[in-house]
Amino acid sequence: MDKIQITGGRQLKGEVFISGAKNAALPLIASSILVDGVCTFENVPRLMDISSIRLLLEDLGASCKFEDHTFVVDGSGIDKLEAEYELVRKMRASILVLGPLVARFGKAKVSMPGGCAIGARPVNMHLSGLEALGATITIAAGYIEATAENGLIGNEVYFDIPTVTGTENLMMAAALAKGQTKLRNAAREPEIVCLADALNLMGAKISGAGTPVITIEGVNRLQGATCRVIPDRIETGTFMVAAAATRGDVIVRDCVPDHLGGVISKLKATGAMVKTFEDRIHIKGSETIKNIDIKTLPYPGFPTDMQAQFMALVTIAQGNSMIHESIFENRFIHANELLRMGADIKISGGNIANVRGVSHLQGAPVMASDLRASASLVIAGLIAQGTTVISRVYHMDRGYETIEKKFEALGADIKRISS
Ligand code: EPZ
Repeated sequence: MDKIQITGGRQLKGEVFISGAKNAALPLIASSILVDGVCTFENVPRLMDISSIRLLLEDLGASCKFEDHTFVVDGSGIDKLEAEYELVRKMRASILVLGPLVARFGKAKVSMPGGCAIGARPVNMHLSGLEALGATITIAAGYIEATAENGLIGNEVYFDIPTVTGTENLMMAAALAKGQTKLRNAAREPEIVCLADALNLMGAKISGAGTPVITIEGVNRLQGATCRVIPDRIETGTFMVAAAATRGDVIVRDCVPDHLGGVISKLKATGAMVKTFEDRIHIKGSETIKNIDIKTLPYPGFPTDMQAQFMALVTIAQGNSMIHESIFENRFIHANELLRMGADIKISGGNIANVRGVSHLQGAPVMASDLRASASLVIAGLIAQGTTVISRVYHMDRGYETIEKKFEALGADIKRISS
């Protein structure tokens, strides 16, 4: 397994170009199942998760081509309606094939995704939403079986809590249902809007994406289209936090500042200078990093996917910072590794972290546990005195395209040690 070695102390300087968003590309690629034809998706990042969903689609019978960040799917050959455990266990987001399969074919069998390091990750809202649209759901031997022999019927669906992939699954399913569906308390992430825009290009009739109520008028069929993946707001935020933490001066290019309201506000509160332009953000770190309090919330609140990166930043802030992780039940695993680097963090009640700023971190061998935790450890390695070696970087390769090359281009002393 590869490792990443970082020698800290360098200020990041220069420009970094942001890739397409993993969490927009995955639902877009899944939506191609709805189409008896060819869909083309541009600006798709080259990531492990994209390879995983490609394997899954090809196993279902679709044919895929992925060259130079353009992903082409022909869904006309799909002749298998079962997403097997061996493929789903590699990537939980495979649950996103459930809605499209049952919408187009009236039947689907998908392995329960199971949990991951950050939490149990239930899919009960996906399933109750499909039942509201008339699907019959049974769970046996670790598989979800959904059937709707006469097709799905539009209905009202209310989410107890805004679920990103739940909203995406139901939006895709409702696109081919008979009649109108309203999704209430829907997730509002930019990735939801990106998917709605793509589905509308395919002939769907969706309005309200990005608001808590999404209305979908079902249509009989969708046709192939060419759609573009939005820039990755979490990759953008990750580089912004790294620039602030190293007191650097970085311009983040090909991004959407409007998608980063919470992140920009919190970075400014730490004392960083942040200037936004149409498709770029200029960020300069301040010598003194001020302490801040964070609570993760559904979009447009502060994103849970940026919590670990900010925790690394505030380990060297002046004073105490409090981080409240309200979305996932176990998303502080990175704290244990930061403690090994000399951070002062106390976890109370499972979802509150009190971080007392220290003068500096020390480089150490650490282990990545999940995608965003690995980004947190990279940032910690960049600011630590000495050398940090991060193991299990396959977690990072799932969601960040050539991240060590991008940091190296900004002046970091970072390299991949291939096993
Ligand atoms: C998406 O996960 C993202 N993944 C996650 O990014 C992100 O952290 C998360 O949204 C929150 O923003 C993709 O888009 C592929 P949720 P998702 O359903 O959809 C509970 C990353 O690092 N819930 O919005 O699985 C759930 O347990 C990943 O890129 C239910 O209880 O998250 C959580 O507490 C990590 N029942 C909350 O809702 C359900 O049926 C929000 O989860 C569904 C969710």
